[in-house]
Amino acid sequence: GRVVVLYGGESAERDVSLKSGAAVIAALERGGVAPIGFDPAEQGGLAGLEALRPDRVFIALHGRGGEDGTLQGALELLGIPYTGSGVLASALGMDKQRTKLVWQALGLPTPESVMLGPDADWASVVERLGLPLIVKPVHEGSTLGITIVDSPEALEAAYRDAVRFDARVMAERFIRGEEYTVSLLGDRVLPAIRVEVPSGFYDYEAKYLSDETLYHLPCGLAEAEEQCLASLCREAFEAIGCSGWGRVDVMRDAQGRFWLLEVNTVPGMTDHSLVPQAAAHAGIDFDALVMRILDTAGR
Ligand code: DAL
Ligand code: MG
Repeated sequence: GRVVVLYGGESAERDVSLKSGAAVIAALERGGVAPIGFDPAEQGGLAGLEALRPDRVFIALHGRGGEDGTLQGALELLGIPYTGSGVLASALGMDKQRTKLVWQALGLPTPESVMLGPDADWASVVERLGLPLIVKPVHEGSTLGITIVDSPEALEAAYRDAVRFDARVMAERFIRGEEYTVSLLGDRVLPAIRVEVPSGFYDYEAKYLSDETLYHLPCGLAEAEEQCLASLCREAFEAIGCSGWGRVDVMRDAQGRFWLLEVNTVPGMTDHSLVPQAAAHAGIDFDALVMRILDTAGR
């Protein structure tokens, strides 16, 4: 059947998606699939895609218009099977704040947050969450628009920066500690990775550009603790209704407690990306990983 890889797109994560898509296309070609790459931003959007008459679609689009449920809904209506999570989980996963509401309702640990608006009572936000705190656009990826706020005066500027990316902005309690990420592939939870950024913050630069970011794999947790983390992430993934593949980002505080930050329903697949590293450690090379993700289409 004809496999179309969707990549590029119009979101702020376009550049990341171009890299993810190129890597996926190359892997499928090595696997003898002869994929067609399609960039909806440049090749006529949904009508252009439909004209290709795909049998399956591999979604390598990140962010809005690709990862957020809208594309998934369109593909459902067109009857075209696609990789990864369905409409609801994609939409919910793209919304960091509503993701938290679901986790909180189920008693899963996630840092407290408040929504910000132009007329927010900045002092009471600081009082409630403490400093530092994190300001994030609700629907964004790759750390775009995120600021760690160290002083009450800096909060409003951080809000203004985030609101350039998204009308909805939240402030979140900062968890001091270690950052982990856990990849899920089908029924498997892949080995956790601890991410360490010598400069301090795992931002866009550290994610895609810097060679200094350290990826600890094995992550260094005792086996029982890694098991705990794995089951927490499986629960968090299923709570949102995710399926196929994805990645859950987690903090571990100084007391050893885990805090769920977010779920990514179309994680990066670039050469710096985390899911491919975790898969490789589990004995699944990049090409095999891409094939397994493709197999999630239509499941
Ligand atoms: N949003 C980026 C692509 C990631 O989570 O890997
Ligand atoms: Mg994300």
